[in-house]
Amino acid sequence: KPRIFSGIQPSGGLTLGNYLGALKRFVAEQGRMETVYCLVDQHAITVWQDPDALRRQTRELAAGFIASGIDPAKSILFNQSQVAEHAQLAWIFNCVARMGWMQRMTQWKDKAGKNTQNASLGLLAYPALMAADILVYHATHVPVGEDQKQHVELTRDIANKFNHDYKVDFFPEPEPVIEGAATRVMSLRDGSKKMSKSDPSDMSRINMTDDADAIAQKIRKAKTDPEALPSEAKGLEGRPEARNLVNIYAALADMSVDDVLREVGGKPFSEFKPMLSDLAVDKMAPISTEMARLMQNPDEIDAILRRGAEQAREIAAPILQRTYDIVGMVR
Ligand code: TYM
Repeated sequence: KPRIFSGIQPSGGLTLGNYLGALKRFVAEQGRMETVYCLVDQHAITVWQDPDALRRQTRELAAGFIASGIDPAKSILFNQSQVAEHAQLAWIFNCVARMGWMQRMTQWKDKAGKNTQNASLGLLAYPALMAADILVYHATHVPVGEDQKQHVELTRDIANKFNHDYKVDFFPEPEPVIEGAATRVMSLRDGSKKMSKSDPSDMSRINMTDDADAIAQKIRKAKTDPEALPSEAKGLEGRPEARNLVNIYAALADMSVDDVLREVGGKPFSEFKPMLSDLAVDKMAPISTEMARLMQNPDEIDAILRRGAEQAREIAAPILQRTYDIVGMVR
């Protein structure tokens, strides 16, 4: 039976990259398949998080999901630490996965830096927990941005090795779902870098909490080249900043890149940027207003997450028990 699982870390504010690469697509899947969405607080602490900040960011992320259109009556929405089965299955996967697999992950290499001896053990084991997140629901489809593709592929490897080692056909090999114009939203200051909440420059990203003025200012100042926009996609080659702004436009407008270029081809950025800015404000400002409203009632957010955790556990607990039986753990 098809089932969607995906997660976002409450490790800082949400960006337009998270919205277009993940949240907006999570909403689109709602009602088409069973959908399980998780705030992965245990992943977040693989690098130090201030406890009060983690609490606030977790609630803000929940507000971001709901304000974007995730309906707790249609999707299961919860935080990872409240469903212990994730960490329990992750332990089994720590014993299935190989060190070399983990050390090959590009995110590990980027985040651990040169001094790997001083990175947390959790940061290295991170993808095994991510595999557990997905497989403890027997999820079949995982909508993510480009940057998470390698981790979903590793999840397939773990499922496959588990099935092989224990001679079972138990875990499905989940498909990464990476679709649309904005699966890799780039920095507004540098078209070769991913838009990220950890970039030191706030001008490099649009935050989901930015107001209309901030959004407009960031787009006005976004780096571009001096040429007008091309009328076909191949004209974006070698123009990463132009490509990025067109991709963002297409994703926000639910249009293909070709259709966008048919409309704006030949226009200079001085005309295109105000169009993009109006569109972004139109789509994003109501979400940030709704997030702020939801944040005024944290008890309600916590109650939604608690209910979600109960629903999640109903699926996860029997799958973990069957895993323990397969592995040979006595009940
Ligand atoms: P995280 O929290 O870094 O990002 C959450 C989601 O947002 C996408 N994303 C982007 N998409 C397009 N352009 C960008 N600039 C951009 N930045 C982020 C990410 O690809 C992701 O889909 N390891 C995951 C969280 C996770 C998870 C899981 C995901 C934990 N368990 C199980 C799927 C399934 C992460 O750190 O995402």
